[in-house]
Amino acid sequence: MKTKLILTLILGIVLGASPTAIAQNKGAADMVIKGGNLGDVPFPHHLHQSILGDCGVCHSLFPQAKGGIEGLKAQGKLEKKEVMDQCQACHKQEAGPTKCTDCHKK
Ligand code: HEC
Ligand code: HEC
Ligand code: HEC
Repeated sequence: MKTKLILTLILGIVLGASPTAIAQNKGAADMVIKGGNLGDVPFPHHLHQSILGDCGVCHSLFPQAKGGIEGLKAQGKLEKKEVMDQCQACHKQEAGPTKCTDCHKK
């Protein structure tokens, strides 16, 4: 047991992160979300993680999985633009882009 813990700690030091940070998969730093006719939406994921801290702000609506939004839409469990409304609501209240073409890029 003790060796396993020590190995985890060494691995943590080697990767330059704490053991708890290894356990959490933070996903891609930047991604592009499918955005329909207006064009797709580039999204700085890690920037939001550091500003917001709480993963649940977004992931209470969709899972921490690639293609999670599209999957729920296909199952009818997520409305079109439901995620977008969440992005917009926060940007209007706090900061961040709010014009269509600020987010949607062709
Ligand atoms: C501001 C919104 C937002 C926040 C906050 C957020 N995420 Fe995400 N995350 C997304 C979006 C959007 C996707 C893409 C979903 C898709 O592909 O349909 C995603 C996808 C992911 C994925 C799968 C994609 C990949 O690259 O592997 C993981 C893992 C993930 N997030 C982890 C986290 C963790 C951990 C946190 C908190 C530290 C977090 N996210 C905070 C919006 C957010
Ligand atoms: C803060 C960024 C942001 C802004 C501003 C924004 N969108 Fe979006 N939009 C998204 C994201 C992310 C998606 C994909 C997720 C979803 O459908 O909720 C999306 C999806 C869409 C879709 C496709 C929905 C589907 O499922 O086919 C349309 C159409 C759309 N937006 C139109 C607009 C229009 C029109 C405006 C301006 C009034 C606008 N968007 C402003 C981020 C944004
Ligand atoms: C709970 C709050 C919150 C949510 C939800 C949120 N954002 Fe943001 N976003 C911010 C804040 C705050 C900034 C401003 C960051 C800065 O300029 O320092 C920002 C900035 C941005 C930027 C500009 C980044 C830059 O480099 O200037 C983009 C693009 C963006 N958000 C896209 C999105 C998309 C797409 C979604 C939904 C999938 C989303 N955001 C959801 C708070 C949020």
